[in-house]
Amino acid sequence: SSFNVLLLPGDGIGAEVAGEVEKIITWFSAQGIAKFELDRGLVGGSAYDAHGKAISEGDMAKAQAADAVIFGAVGGPKWDKVPYDVRPEAGLLRLRKDLGLFANLRPAICYPALADASSLKRDVVEGLDLLIVRELTGGVYFGEPKMITDLGNGQKRGVDTQVYDTFEIDRIARVAFELARTRRNKVSSAEKRNVMKTGVLWNEVVTRLHQESYKDVELEHVLADNCAMQLVRWPKQYDVIVTDNLFGDVLSDVAAMLTGSLGMLPSASLGATDVKTKRRKALYEPVHGSAPDIAGKGLANPIAMIASFGMALRYSFGLGDWADKVDQAIARVLAKGLRTKDIAQGSEKTIGTTEMGAAILAEL
Ligand code: NAI
Ligand code: MG
Repeated sequence: SSFNVLLLPGDGIGAEVAGEVEKIITWFSAQGIAKFELDRGLVGGSAYDAHGKAISEGDMAKAQAADAVIFGAVGGPKWDKVPYDVRPEAGLLRLRKDLGLFANLRPAICYPALADASSLKRDVVEGLDLLIVRELTGGVYFGEPKMITDLGNGQKRGVDTQVYDTFEIDRIARVAFELARTRRNKVSSAEKRNVMKTGVLWNEVVTRLHQESYKDVELEHVLADNCAMQLVRWPKQYDVIVTDNLFGDVLSDVAAMLTGSLGMLPSASLGATDVKTKRRKALYEPVHGSAPDIAGKGLANPIAMIASFGMALRYSFGLGDWADKVDQAIARVLAKGLRTKDIAQGSEKTIGTTEMGAAILAEL
């Protein structure tokens, strides 16, 4: 089978870590494991420099046609003063919106070799493997009205509105149940039904969907604040956590710190599956940004980017066995003691971006 892949390296270390993934994609093609038609585009500050927009219409069209978009990172001090609607982040937001990427998947995996780099004790995090499924296109970040009004008498009022419709909750919950079936078969749904109407509806829709279509999956409801506490107390109780945009933003950052460095964390953003073509739009990116403090020095950890490509193998290319092999290659490289600067402890010897990329490819 052949897949169209659009590589958008972006800015700063985005370009450096994307280069390592490109080598792995080329290797997969050369091995005949899958055929990738690889195309490249510009996004973020580099796109702004080239044509005054955070992503061009041509590259948007390529993204629409791609089986998967592999995205590095955008931003940097060079573009801090560009107009708001063409700032680097606008490129990523446009991609998410136009591709309808409503499901954000953020795994938190703790590799045994790095368990001591976690903010928590080794026995709490060693072997951790959970997945946060965050609703990405609705909720309080997008709901109207959204404004600051002047009340006179020196007072102002800020207003954000949380809105969720049944179909939005239903489709994200489906993603969570389906993923749980491929993992340890458990879904924890986090909301605040005790104080929010959207929480009541969320609970209702998830419960009904479970009854109708996913009785084989274990479902628990957890209040989102309690979920934050449980993530720090005993995270291994979770398999798949499904939650809204705002709680998902916070809970996934909490989960991230269980695993060590930002340089280790991959993510996927998925759209709806087209009923005719069975294709689903998807974008894969590391959680980290463009890291201006280390950009251009060859120090960036490429693991988050490579693990993001691993997620593409699993969710876009039907190559779950190869996704497992990518994860195992990362685990073995870490077990051998190879470290980029961000994950090194004490006096451990460190290697650079290309050495780490090459070591993982060699394990594959
Ligand atoms: P950041 O994630 O770029 O960096 C935070 C810290 O983590 C820095 O010290 C950096 O050196 C380190 N770090 C991050 N990724 C690393 C890696 N792969 N290997 C080794 N060390 C790594 O976040 P920050 O500093 O808040 O933002 C920098 C720029 O990136 C800003 O312009 C921001 O807007 C943008 N950004 C872009 C994102 C994206 O493209 N999705 C996400 C977050 C920030
Ligand atoms: Mg966040």
